[in-house]
Amino acid sequence: MYLSHFASLFSLALVAVGQDVSIRAVKKAFSDADIPADLDIVFNPTALLEVSLPQATGPPITLHAGINVPRNDTAGPPTFHVVGNVGPGPFVVATVDPDAPTPQAPTSAQIRHFLGGNFVNHGGLLTNSTPAISEFRQPTPPAGSDAHRYIFLLFKQSPEFATQTLVNSTTSVSLFNISQFASAVDLGNPIAGTFMLVAPA
Ligand SMILES: *[C@@H]1O[C@H](CO)[C@@H](O)[C@H](O)[C@H]1NC(C)=O
Ligand SMILES: *[C@@H]1O[C@H](CO)[C@@H](O)[C@H](O)[C@H]1NC(C)=O
Ligand SMILES: *[C@@H]1O[C@H](CO)[C@@H](O)[C@H](O)[C@H]1NC(C)=O
Repeated sequence: MYLSHFASLFSLALVAVGQDVSIRAVKKAFSDADIPADLDIVFNPTALLEVSLPQATGPPITLHAGINVPRNDTAGPPTFHVVGNVGPGPFVVATVDPDAPTPQAPTSAQIRHFLGGNFVNHGGLLTNSTPAISEFRQPTPPAGSDAHRYIFLLFKQSPEFATQTLVNSTTSVSLFNISQFASAVDLGNPIAGTFMLVAPA
């Protein structure tokens, strides 16, 4: 009796936190939001990527695929966890906005909001000891735009990634192409991902 009550409180708490719990549901959410087509990626995840946004007051917001997050709550930088048997790493995390300046006419997309490598798996927590190529950039959809999709993808890092010269910290973040980049540096397909929707503040 006590135990089952405790268990249901625990599952309520999981729902309240709201992170992704089903790979199938994440894959469906990506498809429903046209993400594989718009990013030109194959999305067959084998793990869950948990992305948490720290808040000035209160607990962090942990994303689930398709969550709407108020722009003011997206300052970041995010922390990353992986749930699944993916090995020790290293991993690459990429975050892109394919909807800039608007989803109807994304003429400057993709915007690269984060690109970092050398993430290693500490019991699920992903930490990097080297600066990211592109540190996290807060979503800033322009006034009048519909919400943008901000898509986080986890890749297994290739040896080619470490020596790539396509993108560095001074490269424009506009007109990025994650599938082209992933293919050029041999990252393969993403192994996990999630996304949020952010409307203008
Ligand atoms: C967001 O933050 C800005 C500046 O800090 C503030 O002016 C604005 O009222 C905030 N908007 C909401 C919806 O909290
Ligand atoms: C970044 O890459 C550009 C070429 O794309 C190059 O001209 C520049 O020197 C590089 N900057 C750094 C800091 O490596
Ligand atoms: C990104 O590059 C791929 C080739 O890898 C191409 O098919 C696709 O159209 C490009 N996407 C954009 C938005 O330019």
